[in-house]
Amino acid sequence: MSKKAELIYDGKSYQIPVVEGTENEKALDISRLRAESGLITLDKGFKNTGSTESAITFLNGEEGILRYRGYAIEDLAEKSSFLEVAFLLIYGELPTIEELKDFQERIVHHTLVHEDVKSILDGFPSNAHPMGVLSSLVSSLTAFYPKSLDPNRSKEEVDGTIIRILAKLPTLAAWSYKNRMRQPVVYPNNNLDYCSNFLRMMFGLPTEEFDVNPVVSKALDKLLILHADHEQNCSASTVRIVGSSHASLYASVSAGIAALWGPLHGGANQAVIEMLEAIRKDGGDVSKYVAKAKDKSDPFRLMGFGHRVYKNFDPRATIIKKAADEVLTELGVNDPVLDIAKKLEDIALKDDYFIARGLYPNVDFYSGIIYRALGIPTDMFTVMFALGRLPGWVAQWKEMRENNEPIGRPRQIYTGYSQRVFSDISER
Ligand code: ACO
Repeated sequence: MSKKAELIYDGKSYQIPVVEGTENEKALDISRLRAESGLITLDKGFKNTGSTESAITFLNGEEGILRYRGYAIEDLAEKSSFLEVAFLLIYGELPTIEELKDFQERIVHHTLVHEDVKSILDGFPSNAHPMGVLSSLVSSLTAFYPKSLDPNRSKEEVDGTIIRILAKLPTLAAWSYKNRMRQPVVYPNNNLDYCSNFLRMMFGLPTEEFDVNPVVSKALDKLLILHADHEQNCSASTVRIVGSSHASLYASVSAGIAALWGPLHGGANQAVIEMLEAIRKDGGDVSKYVAKAKDKSDPFRLMGFGHRVYKNFDPRATIIKKAADEVLTELGVNDPVLDIAKKLEDIALKDDYFIARGLYPNVDFYSGIIYRALGIPTDMFTVMFALGRLPGWVAQWKEMRENNEPIGRPRQIYTGYSQRVFSDISER
């Protein structure tokens, strides 16, 4: 018999079913609570609220565990490729050699974007943030593929939309950078792998040969794997909730990009480097900034520290820290900002304030450093994160649609005025 919890309210007892996941995570299913008792639950920021049941990603913040479809992030980062991981997240199983080849070929076939996208791109001022440009361009794909507007079409057609977005996002991301640089766009080269193709479109010029450094391409592939999904975070929840109104995949992902942009989420990687630069320019006194972060009257926070669910360590940060060391050595990069980062990490990890609150460097603390070493400009960092997170958003959207989830619509506790008498403007 399934377990139940008892709620006693106003002298009455209510039986609340307990739902259990495959990793023994337990939840109270309160879906009948309002109908039975008139009560809703209140949980600002959804800190303790499950919005769905999902079979995609498991994470245990206390133990620092992260698995995609049951596979440890450490194994995937070490042994697989980004497209293999994308296939795993979206379709649920690791691909065979044939399946991966077919997946890659289908993606390669769709990397080009419609020429008219270039005129949309030209409309943006060159100082437009690439995340805003990317979100707009992804949304604009609905205009070029109007059938995608209906997510209830056949499985094959929905899959075509999925393949298109995976294929086109690197092109759109690189082009958003070209707009920033006011450089001509570079078209995809379908003989290159996913990351090398992106790097060539970003750093190359249409008139010149461009050799992609394999160290850079490999490091980028690993970074994308580490970012590929993270269960019901701010942007994934956004994608699911937008998609729950039966908006198209492109519209849902465009909203996910906007959610990722903020400095408390994916935008933290840009904010980390800006913070480290500011500390360096201010004379490099790290302890001054640690003190500022601890001062409750100062809004300053140490960017790249803390996480909503990891309160022990972020397993992605452990992998990325090692990768950062390797890449910096291989590329012979000597970056003064890195010394500041190391000092900051040392001081904060020993400080009672950070220890007591379980604040550790998160994935974004190191990813900014590695992107910088790879020559990626600071305001493109979050775009890189979006490239990595795309398969996760797609998998979350697809699962939500396949499970036929209802439209997302939270309730609230109203705290405004009770009904007031309207007064005419002449009497106010
Ligand atoms: N620097 C200083 N203090 C911090 C920090 C920080 N980076 N993060 C949290 N705290 C403190 C808070 O002030 C609070 O202290 P209090 O209990 O004395 O009031 C306590 O730690 C808990 O913080 P909350 O904001 O309640 O934690 P929450 O889970 O809501 O926030 C978040 C998590 C947003 C990641 C937060 O730690 C933060 O702002 N970090 C910096 C931004 C960042 O790096 N974001 C990237 C996250 S990873 C990702 O999205 C891929």
